Amino acid sequence: MNDHVDPKGIKSPAHIREESEDVGRNRSANPTMGDIINRRYSRRGFLGGSLAVAAIGATVSPMALLAAREAEAATPSSFNFTEVEAGVDETHHVAEGYDADVLLRWGDKVFADSPEFDPQNQTAEKQARQFGYNNDYIGFIPIEGADDRGILVVNHEYTNAELMFPNFATVEDGEVKLGEYTKELVDIEIAAHGGTIIEIRKVDGKWQPALDSQYNRRITGETETSLSGPVAGHDRVKTNADPSGTKVFGTLNNCAGGLTPWGTYLLAEENFHGYFGSELPEGHRETENYQRIGVPGGWYEWAAFHDRFDISKEPNEANRFGWIVEVDPMDPNAVPKKRTALGRFKHEGCETVVNGDGRVVGYSGDDERFDYVYKFVTAGTFNPDDRAANADLLDDGTLYVARFDEDGTVEWMPLVHGEGPLTAENGFESQADVLIETRRAADLLGATKMDRPEDVQPNPTTGKVYVMLTNNTKRTEDDVSAANPRAENAFGHIIEITETDGDFASTRSSWEVLVKCGDPSVAEVGATFSPATSENGWFGMPDNAAVDADGRLWISTDGNSRDKTGRTDGLWAMETEGEARGTSKLFFRVPVGAEMCGPYFTPDAETLFLAVQHPGEEGAATFEDPATRWPDFDETLPVRPSVVVVTKQGGGKIATS
Ligand code: FEO
Ligand code: CA
Ligand code: CA
Repeated sequence: MNDHVDPKGIKSPAHIREESEDVGRNRSANPTMGDIINRRYSRRGFLGGSLAVAAIGATVSPMALLAAREAEAATPSSFNFTEVEAGVDETHHVAEGYDADVLLRWGDKVFADSPEFDPQNQTAEKQARQFGYNNDYIGFIPIEGADDRGILVVNHEYTNAELMFPNFATVEDGEVKLGEYTKELVDIEIAAHGGTIIEIRKVDGKWQPALDSQYNRRITGETETSLSGPVAGHDRVKTNADPSGTKVFGTLNNCAGGLTPWGTYLLAEENFHGYFGSELPEGHRETENYQRIGVPGGWYEWAAFHDRFDISKEPNEANRFGWIVEVDPMDPNAVPKKRTALGRFKHEGCETVVNGDGRVVGYSGDDERFDYVYKFVTAGTFNPDDRAANADLLDDGTLYVARFDEDGTVEWMPLVHGEGPLTAENGFESQADVLIETRRAADLLGATKMDRPEDVQPNPTTGKVYVMLTNNTKRTEDDVSAANPRAENAFGHIIEITETDGDFASTRSSWEVLVKCGDPSVAEVGATFSPATSENGWFGMPDNAAVDADGRLWISTDGNSRDKTGRTDGLWAMETEGEARGTSKLFFRVPVGAEMCGPYFTPDAETLFLAVQHPGEEGAATFEDPATRWPDFDETLPVRPSVVVVTKQGGGKIATS
């Protein structure tokens, strides 16, 4: 175990994640915008209730409030629902007139013969047959075009041992300390990662898991996958267990993802570095590569029980993670394929769109402070008449990285071996080397360092693409750029790319900031929501996005809290067109401690799937003492990450009259 992160001395896994994202570009101890805001909302929390609202209101001039209310009344919204009130409490809230039902909880059965959830007696074997932990990306594929039957795919990003395991974590001096790991606990964690594929059916108007379905499947941190594309079989991905360099056990830290036009499921491997421990042998060729991507992260104890996560014993294993993984949910025996042509980095997700010429374009953010935005354009074209013909489209194409210029153009720069600096002189012997070290290749091309790129969401109906930049409090005044305009960017922003002439494969496009996030009533924050946005309608830390059947944008967040913004995370509807552009409205909010993932709309726009991730993770939360016992509110059960299904009471399209 490396010594700079001690997993037994943590406050919580979320703190580890945040600290690990602090890649050493700025070590100054200056107070940040985050500190200023923390003080503000801590004070608000201290005051509490209506007094707090009055205190906040007092900092804004009555004229400004009046102008905002007039704008709100005068600007027509394309989203027809009554806004939820922002705040923090133990449960979830959805707009009036909607049902928000819990569909699948951590530990729920995935198969008819899965064991019942018994958190006091959990095993890895049981977990591998049950719904995994920390649901993130959700996709839905109707079966044979039905509107009452389809396959739900759900990523399981990571595990919170302190909330999962009884009698394991203790609190000392306000900090959570984890207990002694056993191999069984590690193996439960491994089995709780990956993804779930499960059929759901609408019965009497309510969606339910179909446990008897032939499609149901758990993918875990041990499922056999294959490496395909340019890196498959390369020396740098060969290990003792796999001298062929083509067979990998497991997919890890699947954050957001995507569905392809041919109905396969993409899982994006994000913070894979966290599972590796120990140190590379002295002078190992992967030293610079691993430093650039943070391996070993040492977040977990897996290396102590499984040699493949110990980089002193198996130095190439970490090159086999950090990919986009494609799996066919219609074939429960399909081997998931790591599509190496899309590059290796901390993929937040991969959302695809069919271009006008039939090529398929996939967008992906590399979620780390000062990392990049990418897109991949297939060489071949999508065949809508022959599903099998699309099976390996993602193995051949061009990966591009974005440079956001001050004049509002985006240059999409190809990462192609032999072009520009991507040559043997710089250590790139082949395209496989370029892809294994995607970040270093993009560094050499002069890509724009962004404020943690999360979901990158194309809108097929408008030719626009939305880039969620969640936050970056390490950006200094010296680092600001047109596309990352705020130093100490605590609340993030959203960039709108307009692909030239609607051509998603375009290599030169234009961009502008759609909105700078945060509380518009605090001048120092510099938020730019439209004045029609209500006190409930603004948010910080955009993370995931979805476009509904009417081409409307929805944003979910990660990082709003009592202390940071006086509200939980949630799902906001965001106007992008006309006078209302930049206006957002709160549709759903999560219980305390959670982040909001998903979101996914069914093609008929009548159902919305949402993932409530790490609920109860606030303060020194443990299995015995979580910040909430959502969703069961049963003292004998732990808090459980869950998928929520939202429908309109009486039926009909969501947010549409
Ligand atoms: Fe797993 Fe970038 O959020
Ligand atoms: Ca995310
Ligand atoms: Ca998305």
